[in-house]
Amino acid sequence: MTTKPDIIVTAPLPPFLYDPLKADYRCHDYQQAADKNALLASVGSSIRGLVQGGGTHTPTTLLEQLARLEIISVFGVGYDGVPVDYCSKRGIKVTNTPDVLTDDVADVAVALIMMTGRGFARHERFVRAGEWDKRGPDLTMKLAGRHVGILGLGRIGKAIASRVSALGMHVAYTGRKPQSVSYQYFPDLKSLAADSDFLVVACPGGPATRNLVDAAVLRALGKKGTLINIARGSIVDEPALVKALQDGTIKAAGLDVFVDEPHVPKPLLSMEHVVLLPHVGSATHETRQAMGDLCKANLDAWFAEKKVLTLIPELS
Ligand code: 8YV
Repeated sequence: MTTKPDIIVTAPLPPFLYDPLKADYRCHDYQQAADKNALLASVGSSIRGLVQGGGTHTPTTLLEQLARLEIISVFGVGYDGVPVDYCSKRGIKVTNTPDVLTDDVADVAVALIMMTGRGFARHERFVRAGEWDKRGPDLTMKLAGRHVGILGLGRIGKAIASRVSALGMHVAYTGRKPQSVSYQYFPDLKSLAADSDFLVVACPGGPATRNLVDAAVLRALGKKGTLINIARGSIVDEPALVKALQDGTIKAAGLDVFVDEPHVPKPLLSMEHVVLLPHVGSATHETRQAMGDLCKANLDAWFAEKKVLTLIPELS
């Protein structure tokens, strides 16, 4: 029997991914290691694969200590935590888990639109607190006919667009270039924000999109507008968002992602006009299983036949 390839794991993995990995690979748990330097000193030179989560960051300094690294398999669609240019120079393959999570993440965007627009989170707290015995619930806002602006009309953005269209909402988008779709295109984010009742962040994270949604975009979104983020916390200037919610520059926010997860900016916790979720875009049994299967399948294909299934576009 051939020896199992050595792989290093830099994120907490669920058992339905970790157990099958352990069956086929010699797994070294970097994330759990009490002495990370000792782990690298003993196995660094034999590591051929690395597994990380979508939201986790793998520094170049770690990769420099893995001289034989051939592949990084990301358990997630977002690979903003991978130094792609560095990997490209070294010929390290990078794979992710696109498609399998699209529906679930789009569902969360719709849920956040409903929870903020129709006040469902507030209404639910109202019932539990026994307030309904004392008075009727507040009226909220009709969604049909409202404008949804999508920042990033990729796979997930398109799935959000078709869902909100089915709710009778108007869809517009911005991105690097117009696409052959029937939705209205805005070449710049500020004009899209000005047109939107809900501005939905659905583009990739990373240096190119850092703080794209800044104080000026929030001002353009204005008092009528709600910010929804299901992509990456880094795309929104978080202190500017907190301030815009505190001083009423924007109406509300529905957030599944944050800059420094699991830490949520304290002021947001007590705001009634903000809905907070713990990064659950892909968090269903079915989807996480499919992501785990694809994450492992990429490693398996690489080590069996030097092929991968879902190479990231920058390296294709
Ligand atoms: C997951 C994600 O939370 O796919 C992504 O990019 O951020 C989420 O689906 C994460 O990848 C799980 O590690």
